Amino acid sequence: MTAAANNSAVLRATNVRKTYQLGRLRVPVLRGVNIDVRRGEFVAILGASGSGKSTLLHLLGGLDAADKATTDTGPASIEFEGSDLIRFSTGRLDEYRRRRVGFVFQFYHLLPELTVLQNVTIAAMTAMGKLEYWSKRGEVRAHASALLERVGLGHRLQHRPAELSGGERQRVAIARALVNKPDLLLADEPTGNLDRVTGASILDLFTDLHKGGQTMVVVTHDEATAARADRVVRLVDGSVVAA
Ligand SMILES: Nc1ncnc2c1ncn2[C@@H]1O[C@H](COP(=O)(O)OP(=O)(O)O)[C@@H](O)[C@H]1O
Ligand SMILES: [Mg+2]
Repeated sequence: MTAAANNSAVLRATNVRKTYQLGRLRVPVLRGVNIDVRRGEFVAILGASGSGKSTLLHLLGGLDAADKATTDTGPASIEFEGSDLIRFSTGRLDEYRRRRVGFVFQFYHLLPELTVLQNVTIAAMTAMGKLEYWSKRGEVRAHASALLERVGLGHRLQHRPAELSGGERQRVAIARALVNKPDLLLADEPTGNLDRVTGASILDLFTDLHKGGQTMVVVTHDEATAARADRVVRLVDGSVVAA
């Protein structure tokens, strides 16, 4: 039995809506999305630019808040291991975002003044707090170095992001996303800024992580990325459509 065959949903989003208010105009961006992610699964969310992919991923990762109002299609919820994060307190949401989820973005978002190793350890420090980090810093550094080794950057620990290629920067971002052993890895167009060959090597890395049991949701407009996933969810104009 593969990990993906394990049926328990890590994340279950039901009737999720997001409406932006632009002055007096209400702009519905997500129109009642349902999506399940099971433990060990690699789910791709495929859609054209503007279909709402980033918005959905931000909601799933607790980076932004879904609409709370109940609609004619019922209430909305985003259940993580059975608890609804739409109704989490700020503190609990913060904990979810820092410890349970890892994010990878199209443009890496590394801190330019920190080394590669520090870019990864800082995510652990943020999750544990300074005191715990200080007492475990040796372990954390060893773990971060091992992750950087795993993504092929063992020889670049003391470099700064500006000294790295785009593909290498994305590898740092992936190591950073993994440092707190997240239940869920969320990636937003992770190869969108890379040439095809470099992008394919990043996709190989995602495939490897998935084989190692990592649960992941990758958002993309690219069929080649979606082809790596166990399951593809298509988003058109803020709604999930049948494949
Ligand atoms: N902060 C915002 N305010 C208003 N509209 C937004 C905001 N963020 C995104 N949108 C709109 O929501 C739609 C979906 O955006 P997005 O989720 O970024 O799509 P995708 O990632 O699929 O390209 C777009 O029409 C975009 O203009
Ligand atoms: Mg986007």
